[in-house]
Amino acid sequence: MRVLGISDNHNAGAALTIDGRLVAAVNEERLTRAKNASGFPERAIAETLRVGGLTPAEIDLVVVAGEITPSFFLRRAPRFHQRAKAGSGQFGALFSLYIYYQVAARRLGWPYRLDRRWSQRLLARRLAALGFRCPVEMRDHHQAHAEGAFLCGPFARATIITADAMGDGVTATVSVGRADGRIERVYAQSGLAALNPYYSRVTALLGFTPLRHEGKVTGLAAYGDPARLAPLFRRQLHFCGPGFSTLGHPLRDHPRLGWRRQLWAEPPADVAAGCQRALEEAVTAFVDYWVRRTGVADVALAGGIFENVKLNQRVRELASVAAVSVFPHMSDGGLAAGAALAASGGRPAPLPTIYLGASYDEETIRAELTRAGVRYERPADIADAVAEALAAGEVVPRFTGAMEYGPRALGHRSIYFRADDPSANDWLNKRLGRSEFMPFAPMTTDEAADRFFVGLDGARFAARFMTMCFDCTAEMKRVAPGCVHVDGTARPQVVRREDCPDAHAILTAGERRGRPPILLNTSFNMHEEPIVMSPADAIGAWRAAGFRCLAIGPFLATAGAA
Ligand SMILES: [Fe+2]
Repeated sequence: MRVLGISDNHNAGAALTIDGRLVAAVNEERLTRAKNASGFPERAIAETLRVGGLTPAEIDLVVVAGEITPSFFLRRAPRFHQRAKAGSGQFGALFSLYIYYQVAARRLGWPYRLDRRWSQRLLARRLAALGFRCPVEMRDHHQAHAEGAFLCGPFARATIITADAMGDGVTATVSVGRADGRIERVYAQSGLAALNPYYSRVTALLGFTPLRHEGKVTGLAAYGDPARLAPLFRRQLHFCGPGFSTLGHPLRDHPRLGWRRQLWAEPPADVAAGCQRALEEAVTAFVDYWVRRTGVADVALAGGIFENVKLNQRVRELASVAAVSVFPHMSDGGLAAGAALAASGGRPAPLPTIYLGASYDEETIRAELTRAGVRYERPADIADAVAEALAAGEVVPRFTGAMEYGPRALGHRSIYFRADDPSANDWLNKRLGRSEFMPFAPMTTDEAADRFFVGLDGARFAARFMTMCFDCTAEMKRVAPGCVHVDGTARPQVVRREDCPDAHAILTAGERRGRPPILLNTSFNMHEEPIVMSPADAIGAWRAAGFRCLAIGPFLATAGAA
């Protein structure tokens, strides 16, 4: 059975499964080159089918992740949707009305069914115009999150926790997943939970962009004193079993109004630390409560809240939790994959590969290098050539194989540098046009990982995809200070040879040269741009950053005219 999943909310995308196996997945942003592009993902649909080698007429079922998020009106008027997001965004009266509408529609039942039916007809018409001849089904937003978390994860049974701003009128759910793929929801909390835009509001208060820069708040939190302002944040968000505290969504809302006014003069690091502390306390209490209720100690996580790598570490540290996995594309960008897997009858199995996007053969890359007038050579062993350049102190962007699915660059669209230079955080971020409070992430081999990180057992799946922080060992702090945060943690990618032979070979080639098998790995893109997709994107970003080397396919390019 060939199933296409699509999502048309925040960070829209498409995913293709064939007989229950995920074979292609991509988000619209990589094709439009506009970060988190939302709306009907026409280009992602075409690209996913191209990667999977199928035509629309060969698809047996299309499943849409999100029944009334976005609502029929926003699906009908995508330009208005974009304008509303760009304008008042998360905090305008319109957004509050949108939350109220979704929660009320869900409670009443009939407006929900009506909106879903209209949306289904609208999307079926759009898909028919693209050549699809199959049925179109709608799937609940949090159900799709849960399906991604469980069906791509390492557990035969799991307590599945989803939490995000809001989807289909709901903010958080708890389900139990079973070996036959069945997922039974045991709890759902409405979109009026305080969790809703809690973190995004503080992101805006600190002068960052909500729904984009939440990671900066997480990074900044390590520099502050959490105890000082945590009591204030606890009043806004806490666990009060079985769910989170609730908070009204005032129609007139602004980051400088209400309780946040008290924070305006406080040091930003203390604000971030207090916010992070209250979030960790509330979510870990929620997970602990539900793990004890379900009696299933393996936990699968998905939803935008679990982009927070520090929070995920706290969940793993709970005494009641045996092991934790995080869906690699945990936010709305990954909904299409979860929905497609479930609709094709998938059983839980660890995701075999995250490299689900476009790949380019040697001749295409060579043609692009020639067209761009780049000087390049074809070394006998590209991994060895990259390791040599890194040992010589070069920054090396690496472009190889199929593009990663999800927010992290995991070795196919990555920028590498040695991990022992603590000043890299400053100068490399400047070169890439970024401002970050969290240090760059390290990448190491599966064989060496226990030398560098504490507590990998029970979270090795999460560590494959850079979705969790770990405490660093003394050796890590000594050999890779450029990747250790001020609180002594890091968020590594642990590379198994079978997952990414290229990165594994580069790390081991460095080891043969007497260097520790650890590198700094950051995403291959300039500030605020999506990660590069094509060779042309890669050459453009490489030139903009002004690095000397570029390792692209089997070629090593160097700056200067050909
Ligand atoms: Fe979501």
